[in-house]
Amino acid sequence: VTLGELPEAGSGYSGRVVVVGSVNVDTVLHLERHPTPGETVAATGTARLLGGKGANQAVSAARAGATTALVCAIGDDQAGRDARDALAGAGVAVAGAARASDPTGSALVMVDGAGENMIVITPGANGLLDRDHIATAAPLVAAADVVLASLEVPVDAVLAAFAAATGLRVLNPAPAEPVTDALLDAVDVVTPNRHELGRIAGTGPPSSVESAVAMAEQLRRRHPNLAVVATLGQEGAIVVAPTGTTHLPAAPVVVVDTTGAGDAFNGRLAAELASGAVLNEAVRAGVVYASEVVGRAGATGIRLR
Ligand code: RIB
Repeated sequence: VTLGELPEAGSGYSGRVVVVGSVNVDTVLHLERHPTPGETVAATGTARLLGGKGANQAVSAARAGATTALVCAIGDDQAGRDARDALAGAGVAVAGAARASDPTGSALVMVDGAGENMIVITPGANGLLDRDHIATAAPLVAAADVVLASLEVPVDAVLAAFAAATGLRVLNPAPAEPVTDALLDAVDVVTPNRHELGRIAGTGPPSSVESAVAMAEQLRRRHPNLAVVATLGQEGAIVVAPTGTTHLPAAPVVVVDTTGAGDAFNGRLAAELASGAVLNEAVRAGVVYASEVVGRAGATGIRLR
């Protein structure tokens, strides 16, 4: 693949996506406003949903029509069985997920009346994903047109997956963690949001589209083959690639719940690239889909029992 326009349409892309990432059971609490430290507030509603960045991204890719597998670690418990059933129901094949000894990952997701969230995760089994899981799934990883990974699982597993990949490697550096140069050198496309871009650049989040572009350009000076796709919420996304820079704005939307909007974007982006779309078209499709997702409740919207 020539990274330039990334990828060339009609050059053998078959719509296969492998996602490497986390699976959580999300306990979602809807609130009028978030509590301050020491304060108690009442939820206006609760739900138990399929979540985790990996699961959300895989569901998004499958919904976009990609043949999708998720390489993950899931506990041998009821939450794990519920998550497996939900993933199967969404058309996602689960790979490498030998029953982990730790409980399935979980998240407490609080969403306020403005649709803004606060999330606390308990990694559980996600923290056990390792090179052996990746080795088990190696043929699948090698056959994928796109391998998409995020950072709610150990970085060692992510590096192993990118090493086994023959297709495009997309890193969603979420949640915001410091990212090493070695990891950035192992990927073709990196997809930070504002906070993650700031974290990678070693500064605060960008205050404007222009400053996001400047930060992405600075990153590209250290990693000249890298395409930086930064998501900027209501301002859409920027693509800063070897072929040039583009701003793809988002249409105005009434925000209901921002949870998983980034995951929806990444899954759609991966599916589009896997079907041979060029980068800017894939990003445009991701921006449109993420806008739809913030207009409804829940990351995947898939309820568990
Ligand atoms: O990105 C949203 C996700 O972050 C939630 O589904 C939660 O599980 C956490 O992983």
